[in-house]
Amino acid sequence: SRVVTLAVIPGDGIGPEVVAEAEKVLDAVTAGGDVVFERTRFSLGAGRYLDTGDTLTDADLEAIAGHDAILLGAVGGVPGDPRLKDANIERGLLLKLRFALDHYVNLRPSKLYPGVPGPLAAPGDIDFVVVREGTEGPYVGNGGSIRTGTPHEIANETSVNTAYGIERVVRYAFAQAQRRRQKLTLVHKTNVLVHAGGMWKRIVDAVAAEHPDVAVDYLHVDAATIFLVTNPGRFDVIVTDNLFGDILTDLAGAVTGGIGLAASGNINPDGAFPSMFEPVHGSAPDIAGQQKADPTAAILSVALMLDHLGLGDEASRVTRAVEADIATRGSATRTTAQVGDAIAAAVQA
Ligand code: NAD
Ligand code: IPM
Ligand code: MN
Repeated sequence: SRVVTLAVIPGDGIGPEVVAEAEKVLDAVTAGGDVVFERTRFSLGAGRYLDTGDTLTDADLEAIAGHDAILLGAVGGVPGDPRLKDANIERGLLLKLRFALDHYVNLRPSKLYPGVPGPLAAPGDIDFVVVREGTEGPYVGNGGSIRTGTPHEIANETSVNTAYGIERVVRYAFAQAQRRRQKLTLVHKTNVLVHAGGMWKRIVDAVAAEHPDVAVDYLHVDAATIFLVTNPGRFDVIVTDNLFGDILTDLAGAVTGGIGLAASGNINPDGAFPSMFEPVHGSAPDIAGQQKADPTAAILSVALMLDHLGLGDEASRVTRAVEADIATRGSATRTTAQVGDAIAAAVQA
């Protein structure tokens, strides 16, 4: 039998609640099969910081990096909690993992499943994937401020874009488009961000020349938000930078029925480091501990993980079980665990 080592980071708020259901479904889909997921749990997040003062130690990072894959719930405390003022869990933990493990592809699929009520009157067929660059852009922390807190303060946040970093994520996006509907849209803001945008455009054009089977177009990010609402069916693969991708994927989640359904993979396609799978949503302190969170995004993140690990059959069994569950969701409210139970049962049916 094949052993896959999995680092599990439940995190804060609803993180542990949705991860419990994701693991339930992972157990169901691997039961009786010959793949075994050997799990190590890591207590990380705002809770750990408040207990110990640690965000992510070198030992944590090294231990996590030794696994085949990572499943993360969500991290982060209540926004504005004064005790977390100096912590910055998001940078010190989540982004540190993405950067250190070279997760240069942040893969965020968006699909409107049949039966899901969304906010759009005429959504059409929505089925696209955002390939968000994960290691560069304005996220790198290349900035600083002077005269901080004075009326003369100057704060800079420099977006770092490298030809190497853009080309590798663009190539991944083209490969996705070839496997899908052969359409790729670059989203940027080349009319204003001429230096970075110009390089993104040139690299996409160069890689496009090697992929005559893929139809390529370009949208400024502001216009892309219009089309994501008025005609989301026009998109197949969107490739974009770290910050634009962050914003577009919350919007994409909203138009496909809510953030409780949006899954993601932070992927190192080269396999040099473990990839990390997590819902797009955060720790939702407003509903934490109440069994109100929808675990579907975490469960679909397990499907992305299985697919990444070459377990395509298991991945599609999870996806089909989720689709079946979604199709029969009525207005009845179920607990987080009830949704997980139903999907786990459907996986084994
Ligand atoms: P959030 O995604 O946690 O919550 C936004 C809204 O969506 C809330 O009303 C919440 O109740 C709802 N929601 C989120 N997930 C849901 C689910 N599965 N089912 C039902 N409703 C759900 O975003 P936020 O409030 O901006 O952030 C809360 C904390 O999470 C912050 O500390 C933030 O930094 C952190 N965060 C972490 C991640 C991550 O770990 N990947 C991602 C985003 C935000
Ligand atoms: C996400 C989150 C993170 C991001 C934050 C919490 C650092 O919003 O995963 O989308 O901006 O990437
Ligand atoms: Mn986000």
